[in-house]
Amino acid sequence: MTSSNDIRRSFLDHFASAGHSIVPSAPLVPQNDPTLMFTNAGMVPFKNVFTGLERRPYSTAVSSQKCVRAGGKHNDLDNVGYTARHHTFFEMLGNFSFGDYFKERAISLAWDLLTREWGLAKDRLTVTVYHTDDEAADLWKKIAGIPDSRIIRIATNDNFWSMGDTGPCGPCSEIFWDHGDHIPGGPPGSPDEDGDRFVEIWNLVFMQYEQVDKSTRLDLPRPSIDTGMGLERIAAVLQGVHDNYDTDTFRTLIAASEDRVGRAASAEARASHRVVADHLRSAGFLVADGVLPANEGRGYVLRRIMRRAMRHAHLLGAKEPLMHQLVPALIGTMGQAYPELGRAQALIEETLKLEETRFRQTLERGLGLLDEASAKLASGGTLPGDVAFRLYDTYGFPYDLTEDALRARGIAVDRAGFDAAMAEQKKLARAAWTGSGEAKDAAVWFDIAEAHGATEFTGYTGLVGEAQVLALVKDGKQVDTASPGDSLVVITNQTPFYAESGGQAGDGGSISWGDGLSARVTDTRKALGKLHLHDVTLTEGSLKVGDVVRLEVDAPQRGAHRRAHSATHLLHAALRRRLGTHVTQKGSYVGADTLRFDFSHQKAVTPAELAAVEADVNAQVLGNRPVTTTLMTPDDAIAAGAMALFGEKYGEEVRVLAMGADDGGDTYSVELCGGTHVGALGDIGLLKITGESAVASGVRRIEAKTGIAAREWLNERETLLLEAAGAIRARPEEVPARVAALLDERKRLERELADAKKALA
Ligand code: SER
Repeated sequence: MTSSNDIRRSFLDHFASAGHSIVPSAPLVPQNDPTLMFTNAGMVPFKNVFTGLERRPYSTAVSSQKCVRAGGKHNDLDNVGYTARHHTFFEMLGNFSFGDYFKERAISLAWDLLTREWGLAKDRLTVTVYHTDDEAADLWKKIAGIPDSRIIRIATNDNFWSMGDTGPCGPCSEIFWDHGDHIPGGPPGSPDEDGDRFVEIWNLVFMQYEQVDKSTRLDLPRPSIDTGMGLERIAAVLQGVHDNYDTDTFRTLIAASEDRVGRAASAEARASHRVVADHLRSAGFLVADGVLPANEGRGYVLRRIMRRAMRHAHLLGAKEPLMHQLVPALIGTMGQAYPELGRAQALIEETLKLEETRFRQTLERGLGLLDEASAKLASGGTLPGDVAFRLYDTYGFPYDLTEDALRARGIAVDRAGFDAAMAEQKKLARAAWTGSGEAKDAAVWFDIAEAHGATEFTGYTGLVGEAQVLALVKDGKQVDTASPGDSLVVITNQTPFYAESGGQAGDGGSISWGDGLSARVTDTRKALGKLHLHDVTLTEGSLKVGDVVRLEVDAPQRGAHRRAHSATHLLHAALRRRLGTHVTQKGSYVGADTLRFDFSHQKAVTPAELAAVEADVNAQVLGNRPVTTTLMTPDDAIAAGAMALFGEKYGEEVRVLAMGADDGGDTYSVELCGGTHVGALGDIGLLKITGESAVASGVRRIEAKTGIAAREWLNERETLLLEAAGAIRARPEEVPARVAALLDERKRLERELADAKKALA
């Protein structure tokens, strides 16, 4: 049997030996398209190459691209587990020509691979072409010798592929495999084409046009090729099975979950094992690409996938969290092709375990409520929306999990009722906020947050990213367009800009769009705890809601914030170790290489204590250990010894920062923190305490500098010393003794002068 790994390899090799560059899979979070939730086709990373916006050093390429279809426009989540070919995660094998070859070579390369290299029976292959595409039909006849009866002309959009409403597009030709007459279904274009007998295995798109807007379609400067073949489908064909879940990769993953729960993947358990296997792949790959479970955006799609799998693990009778135990099997089958999985193993396992541990706390009670509320419903019935909302709000059931749970019994969920209950809750939240009198201008932020949800922060891992403008706010009001001279707040769907919070200053940087237009972001603030507000003053061009922009954080400034922030954690830990555990943080400010730390302590910190604290922190800096971040529930984090700030509101999950090690080998500092930090402690460079003072009774303040500012501060001090030394004509090291001697001398002279005056009088 040819393994999926071999098939992927031989696909890449086939096209590499025909001169294509092998391009590694791009991440699942699209880097060049902020309107897209996840990379969902092999051509996504090449979008700008097709339109000519971007140039690459190659004109033909081949890839095996990680894809997720579980959110946004393409969403297969609901079907996974119940069909032979739906996945939330899949791999798309594709070859691409950017103005190099066109239809003829594309068809010939594809036919050669399928029939010669892979030895597929020619008479079991059928192709479709767009109904007007005589050229493609003739080429299939000429190159492959396929008879007219198996070249089917299709007039629908099935054979005209477009990326979206705009962008590169063109007619396409699909290749189908006939799984045999023991399976029901007819050829494409026939009334029973939806059956499972004829399965599309490869789509060759002849990229010829660019859809500019609804009514304008231009010829592309260079006709191109984009092909896509699902690895899971071709693996089923080459491994002689009909169902993707019977291929080697899935059999390995399903065997692992059968083994763990002690239940075979048959009868009712079949769908559940499939869901677990499929969702393990998408969850593992998403976490490896930096997505973490959250209540909004991409993170919420991940959470939905994870929780859906976790309910199925529960159905299978898993007594302990299951998903994280399957990660080694996932890495065993796919880790060689995608090394990022192995690198992120600990993070994937921890994330899955945490989510499942927490969800299991409410899952059973939620299922109890669901059983009770649906007991009287028969097949064809509908669960009231407010019950679905209670399950969501109190028990953490994503809407589609509730749907999935009722699916087998033929019961639907009242979506409109669910949405209405959600809207009502938001209204109450707004009323409570307005009532608090805290912010008069909060209404505009509520409107924006309600319409678009939270801003997704991408800046823990990257400092540059594209985004879409969701709202522009000028003088407290939403506007559609901003013009030069306007000072405004720009809100985007995602951003690498850290918004001021937890004491850390907001990021500055630049925003650019259109044809070379740009403006400075002077600061980033946070509203309602979830919107990132970029402060921008426009100097050129106009900026509109809907524009795609490029956001770039001022990297040196962010580096300085990071150094000061990590140093603050070390300072906090050092103070507790030197002065006692009564020391707790009362406030802090973290700016560019400068920090202020307020803490509870009844008396002034002595110079000797300060020197010891400073030495302790710098010993950790020199130790240069890597800084690690983990995601935990606040309770777990505190149980693990993390310092939490009293009275601070924490979300369901917190980031826990661990730094350094003491002489006993224990972690030096563990703190809950949403800020941004150095990769390793040595990055801080140096911590220099510059001041100690009282701010209130029982509260002391330490001021300090790190990195560049610490060096500059020391240099300034040195300059002062040299000036003083110059003035008294001494070497710097002689200054203290010489000053003391001068003071003595002055005292003596004063005394003599007084004596002389007395004698004179
Ligand atoms: N872009 C086409 C598809 O997604 C071919 O790769 O089907």
